[in-house]
Amino acid sequence: MRRPALLLALAGLALLAAMAAADAGDSDLSSLLASEPDDDLRGAAREVARRERRADREARRADRAEAKQQAREAKATKCKKGSWGIIIQKPIQNKVLPAERPAPWPLCGLGKCNLSVAIDMHVQPQDGIRIEVIHKPLTGITAEMMEWWFSGNIEGTMVDPRDNKTYTRYLIWHPTDHIHEITKKPSKTPGSVIGAVREITEFIGAQRATPYTSADRNCEWNAEHYANDELEVAALDRTGLSLQLKIGYKNKPMRMRHSWSDSPDGTGLLLNSTLNVGFTGDRPIVARINRRYCRRAFGGDNQEKSAELWANHCLEEFANLKNFLPDLFKAEAGKP
Ligand SMILES: *[C@@H]1O[C@H](CO)[C@@H](O)[C@H](O)[C@H]1NC(C)=O
Ligand SMILES: *[C@@H]1O[C@H](CO)[C@@H](O)[C@H](O)[C@H]1NC(C)=O
Ligand SMILES: *[C@@H]1O[C@H](CO)[C@@H](O)[C@H](O)[C@H]1NC(C)=O
Repeated sequence: MRRPALLLALAGLALLAAMAAADAGDSDLSSLLASEPDDDLRGAAREVARRERRADREARRADRAEAKQQAREAKATKCKKGSWGIIIQKPIQNKVLPAERPAPWPLCGLGKCNLSVAIDMHVQPQDGIRIEVIHKPLTGITAEMMEWWFSGNIEGTMVDPRDNKTYTRYLIWHPTDHIHEITKKPSKTPGSVIGAVREITEFIGAQRATPYTSADRNCEWNAEHYANDELEVAALDRTGLSLQLKIGYKNKPMRMRHSWSDSPDGTGLLLNSTLNVGFTGDRPIVARINRRYCRRAFGGDNQEKSAELWANHCLEEFANLKNFLPDLFKAEAGKP
């Protein structure tokens, strides 16, 4: 081998070894942790590592349970195994899926029609995921209705005028993706939702044509992207809603903001939604945590796909509001 070729080969080997080391374990994370002066980031890094271990344990446990079930059921060969544990989201048990779902609203999903004025996606492993969605104006919806809806009126049930059956409001809001939403911890301020913690469980752009119910075995849906975590209400008023992941540190790895206002010409609500996934800061440890965290933020193993599904889900759920919110608001808040 001539000398330049040999050097190139050696450099290639060194690069491979470095990549393997970065992938293989926590040794570089440990040294970053040891030298990181920021307590908050150190705490956050440990929390992510802890959750990652838990997710892996849950994934193995679920795989074992699934293997047993497959052995029991002859037709189980048709059921493909998907991803189970994901770092921040808790696994979903199929008993929390609804037994029955309302009919889907006429949908306008990706490729069918266009619900957005613009979508801006920034997906970088080290910086995290940032998605900005500018919705087309929401006809018939007002800023006052939005504040009312998010101030606790999402919860409880309502009659679906299409079949006169009672469902949870959360299911009516997005009949194919939503699973459940409950207040885990109310706000400390009576009459307010600021600081309240909500458990939100939903698929993000479920891909199957027939929506999932509790009759489906886990392996039918466990490859879908999903969210199942606790979000704290950071702000809610006539101008918008902010939610953030409740993990106990100042540096929150998931932040969501919906900003709205009544359009001056009365065409409908103007709405922008922003999702940020990943810790902030320019220390090396931030990139190191984000690379692991964001890749598996909503399941799957593909951040671009997660971002695209999230944008589409977000457009759909807000577009669905026109189908029931104006009437519900009129009936319950007594306003036109
Ligand atoms: C969706 O519509 C907006 C505004 O009408 C337009 O600017 C945008 O390019 C469209 N997007 C797609 C994917 O068609
Ligand atoms: C639902 O109930 C109302 C009131 O009883 C009735 O007027 C309406 O026709 C019913 N709709 C359906 C779809 O059954
Ligand atoms: C949405 O974003 C656009 C572009 O940044 C901005 O002009 C507009 O004021 C925003 N609308 C709302 C309701 O926040």
